[in-house]
Parts: sequence; C-alpha cells; structure tokens
Amino acid sequence: MMQIDQIQLPDFPLLLAPMEDVTDPPFRTVCRENGADLLFTEFISSQALIHKAISARQKLDILESERPVGIQLFGGDEESMSLAAKIIDATSPDLLDINFGCPVKGIVSRGAGAGVLKDVQLMIRLTEACVKATRLPVTVKTRLGWDEQTKNIEEVAERLQDAGIKALTIHGRTRSQLYKGEADWSLIAKVKNNPRIHIPIFGNGDINTPQKALEYKNRYGVDGIMIGRAAIGYPWIFREVKHHIQTGELLPPPTVAERVDVCREHLRGLLAWKGPVNGIYEMRGHYMKYLKGLPNPKELRSELVQLRTGEAAEAALNSILERYHDYEIPAAPIELINYHENCAL
Ligand SMILES: Cc1cc2nc3c(=O)[nH]c(=O)nc-3n(C[C@H](O)[C@H](O)[C@H](O)COP(=O)(O)O)c2cc1C
Repeated sequence: MMQIDQIQLPDFPLLLAPMEDVTDPPFRTVCRENGADLLFTEFISSQALIHKAISARQKLDILESERPVGIQLFGGDEESMSLAAKIIDATSPDLLDINFGCPVKGIVSRGAGAGVLKDVQLMIRLTEACVKATRLPVTVKTRLGWDEQTKNIEEVAERLQDAGIKALTIHGRTRSQLYKGEADWSLIAKVKNNPRIHIPIFGNGDINTPQKALEYKNRYGVDGIMIGRAAIGYPWIFREVKHHIQTGELLPPPTVAERVDVCREHLRGLLAWKGPVNGIYEMRGHYMKYLKGLPNPKELRSELVQLRTGEAAEAALNSILERYHDYEIPAAPIELINYHENCAL
C-alpha cells in the first residue's frame, strides 16, 4: 500500500493526468472503473474560482464513486491561490493539486503554470499559501524546468517538499519543449533517488503501452505513473498496465462490446451531469475515440454526430454493436497527439 497523507492507494498507483476539456466526471468515472487509482480534475483558475465563473465552479464537481480525486488549481498570486484553496477545501475533494507545469503562453505570462519554473521563490510562496489555507493534502504537478539550460527540478522538488507538499508528479519535459521530443525520465529518477526526498514521486510523459509502463517502472524506480493522452478514448490502458505489471502478461484488447459499453456509460454520465442538450452535444467528440479501429469510420462518425437525443444515441450504439460485435480491432500502440502552443494545452 502507499499513502498520501490519509489517502490509501495500492502499491505503484496509476494516476489519471489532469486534462483540460477531457477529465470531467464522466470521463474520470470510466477511467476509475478501468483501473485508475487516483484521478484529477481539469485545472481550475484561482481567479476564475474566486470570481465565481460558472465554468470554473462546474469543474469542482466530483462524484462519490470517483474518490480518491484531486482538484487541480493554478494561479500566479498568493492571495487568489489562498482564497481558491479555501473554496476547494469546502468542496471536500481528497487532495488539492497545484499546476506548475502548464506551458500555455497566456497562463505562463501571468506567472502561473510552468511560468513559476523561472521564479522558484514565487513557486514556494504560492505553495505555502495553499498549504496554509487548506486542511487537504497538497500535491504538485510540474515539468523538469523552464528550458534545456535551466532544468531545476532537483532543487524545486526539495523546496516543494520543505514547503509541505505530500507528493510530486513530474512530466519529463521542459516548458519550452511543450509536447515535442520524447519525455526524459532520467531526471525524474534522480529526484526519486535523492535521499532527502521522502514524498512519493510520480513519473509522467509518453506512457502509451503496458510494456513501456513496466520498463519505465523498473528503469526509473518511480513510486507510480501518471497517464494522460493514452487514456483519451482508451481508459483500458490502466487495467492493461496494471495487469502487465502484476503478471508480466498482456491482456487482450477490449472487445467491441466493451468499447460500446464504455461509450454508453460515458454518454449516460454526460447526459446526467451536463443535461440532455449539452450532454449530447459534448458526446459528439467522444464516440469515435472509443470506436477507433472499426470499419467505415467516416460513415460511423456522420451517423453519430447527427444524434440529438439520448434515446437516439443509445439506439445507434445498439445498432453498431449488432453490426460489429464479432469484429476484432487489432491491438496497436496508442498514438500520442503532439499538442502545440496554439492548442488548448
Ligand atoms: C488535452 C490536454 C489537456 C491538458 N490539461 C492539463 C491540465 O489541465 N493540467 C495539467 O497539469 N496538465 C494538463 N495536461 C498535461 C497532462 O496532464 C500530461 O502532463 C501530459 O499530457 C503528458 O502526459 P502523457 O504523455 O501521458 O499525455 C494536458 C494535456 C493534454 C493533452
């Protein structure tokens, strides 16, 4: 077992990465049911939260069935971080995670996200403001450093630990790399092997197969792994990684029936959480991710994006299952999309 403050986790936990516009309650639920041990919300702006922006408030929603779940916060000044931490505390998640890794220009220029990698003093003050303001365990997610010349994660990790954080997730890229190149886990291993570090260190970046997860576990010695892009449309990555780590064997890929089931569950979750109009609209972006690999994707997509009600969507999913239940989608490494600066994240 592993513990983060009062939160009990299995040995070598698998974490679902916080992802803007992706990790909402319905998506988190399907990841939890397929093996994710600790979930995170999308990041929430401290300023938006204290000024009551509805979209920021909605991101605070968590379902009892998802626990343990962390709410992720970003901001660039102590006052708003402290006030926002109090608001988050009152909503009772299991932990509060601070984002010091987001590379987006608009956020970095406000001194938030990965911006603080250039100003470690500010990073520490923001962290201390949150630790002081909440009873929740505070964790941090960050990158290796600002750029190739300033990879300061070893110093940053020690100072964050001293500021009172209870776990640290490191994405093995610098801010300037955005999503380019390959994540470098060797510095993450250095942080983990630092004898002064006693909090759990989670590795993040480019895990898209069970084999790679096991290899990185063994090679870099981290306490657990956080998975982001590979889980989008493929929440089974968690159970596959878990099974491979426990047994050395590979699970067969999900059947079409399992894919349709998870798609249906995501649909129902969205309808319940967002309402019948917004729920059905948002689901349009999800169907084909779960059904990737089925024949005639263009026809399927146009059939699905026209749906206007939950009943019609359920009927369409039933019909897809009927047509393709015997079809075997071959196992293949999950493609990791390279997000660029002008994308959301
Ligand atoms: C669409 C998208 C949205 C993201 N949003 C966030 C976020 O809100 N907070 C955060 O800390 N990281 C965010 N990230 C970064 C991921 O949490 C993760 O660090 C990154 O994708 C690398 O992990 P991966 O290779 O497993 O995807 C986002 C990434 C993507 C692709």
